[in-house]
Amino acid sequence: MTFPMKRLEGKVAIVTGAGAGIGYGIGKRFAEEGAHVVIAEINPETADQAAQDYSKIGPEALAYHIDIGDPERTKQMAADVVAHFGRIDILVNNAGISDKMTLMEMTPKDWDEMHYVNTRGLLFTTQAVARQMIARVPEEVKQAGYSELSYGKIVNIASIAGRRGRSDAIHYSTSKAAVITITQATAMELAPYHINVNAICPAAIWTALYKHLDDRMAQKLNLAPGEFYQQRIRRIPLHRGGTIEEIGSMAAFLCSDEADYITAQSYNVDGGSEMN
Ligand SMILES: NC(=O)c1ccc[n+]([C@@H]2O[C@H](COP(=O)([O-])OP(=O)(O)OC[C@H]3O[C@@H](n4cnc5c(N)ncnc54)[C@H](O)[C@@H]3O)[C@@H](O)[C@H]2O)c1
Repeated sequence: MTFPMKRLEGKVAIVTGAGAGIGYGIGKRFAEEGAHVVIAEINPETADQAAQDYSKIGPEALAYHIDIGDPERTKQMAADVVAHFGRIDILVNNAGISDKMTLMEMTPKDWDEMHYVNTRGLLFTTQAVARQMIARVPEEVKQAGYSELSYGKIVNIASIAGRRGRSDAIHYSTSKAAVITITQATAMELAPYHINVNAICPAAIWTALYKHLDDRMAQKLNLAPGEFYQQRIRRIPLHRGGTIEEIGSMAAFLCSDEADYITAQSYNVDGGSEMN
């Protein structure tokens, strides 16, 4: 597929966890739409590979090796990206982890590890990048609190697991519910600067993260590899899992000028699984 509209031409986008899975799909689509993409990724090999792949498609792509749970590093990253490209237009908070365990199995360490990446990491990455976005907003816009232009787009990857509590994943489910409310609260705080903040809630997409969940449940329930995932997607009204391209497509729309009047919203891209 080609994207002649190039809705993100010349934009500078940071995508966390873009070395693999959904983040890779988002970064690739952004490159196809003309954006410079910074791959903020904990795995240096996949980060470098993604940067090579994107550079063949679009403008400059940069691999940035980082643990997004470390606020000092995310602050440094935001400053480095501005020093290199001059600004940051887009942030996609995609990096996340997941696991399956019951309430009785869960330890404080399991809880902390989940929230370290999925909520704490996401929040302080947003803080570091939003600070740089706000610095670019002209004084007269800050005074007036009004502008026809958007001064930044932030998209958080939540999950339909955040729409209602899920058994065997209380720590994940609560982390994604938090991402939905962080999206709303951040959107309200950044609205005076005309920075849009929205979220995407995917359902089931076959990535390394989902394979990990499938392995866990296969062991627990004595299932064949892939069977847990197949059972899961049979319950989706459209009877299939999503694709990384479909999430990339929604993210590209939300980060384009076409979505300037959309903020504080969370969109299910889930084959009809949820309706709220
Ligand atoms: N796959 C699904 O079915 C599904 C469904 C709903 C929501 N999600 C959400 O989508 C996002 C991406 O999931 P995925 O399925 O692509 O997972 P994935 O495991 O395939 O990819 C996640 C990427 O993030 C990176 N990462 C993890 N921790 C990091 C950290 N601390 N700092 C920097 N990078 C880090 C990983 O190295 C990896 O490249 C997650 O937030 C996940 O919760 C996934």
